[in-house]
Amino acid sequence: MAVFSRNVFVMAILFFSLLSFTEARDHLVGGKTNSWKIPSSESDSLNRWAEKTRFLVGDSLVWKYDGAKDSVLEVSKKDYVTCNTSSPIAMHNDGNTKIVLEHFGAYYFISGVKGSCEQGQKLVVVTLSKRRYADAPVPSPVEFDGPAIAPTSN
Ligand SMILES: *[C@@H]1O[C@H](CO)[C@@H](O)[C@H](O)[C@H]1NC(C)=O
Repeated sequence: MAVFSRNVFVMAILFFSLLSFTEARDHLVGGKTNSWKIPSSESDSLNRWAEKTRFLVGDSLVWKYDGAKDSVLEVSKKDYVTCNTSSPIAMHNDGNTKIVLEHFGAYYFISGVKGSCEQGQKLVVVTLSKRRYADAPVPSPVEFDGPAIAPTSN
């Protein structure tokens, strides 16, 4: 009986840790509303925010901004680098833009407002596949002496 309930407990833990790996998340760009703007400094830039965030395939980016004044352009790497707004892959100006990160790799976004990209209103997001994420070592400040879950004896 004790062994049975312990197994159920272990299975529940495995189930919920699996859920947390596979659950798609929405990332509010910049971490707050109205972050889609010309950064006041390099440390304030959206790419600094992106570096601190893990993006998985299936997650979404959400922009909240004034759609009457700005827009979000998804562009090629070349257009990102040169701030070329003339032929975006996709253009959004609804003020509440949600883009699902469907593939592994880099996504490039710039503002559609003339001159804003040149002043740093741009964003690169690199997605990790779930498999890679699962394989990545989990950073931990403490060393474990043994396995996190003790094997059940029989
Ligand atoms: C911007 O991109 C378009 C289409 O690719 C191209 O025709 C144009 O020359 C580019 N403009 C600049 C300034 O590079």
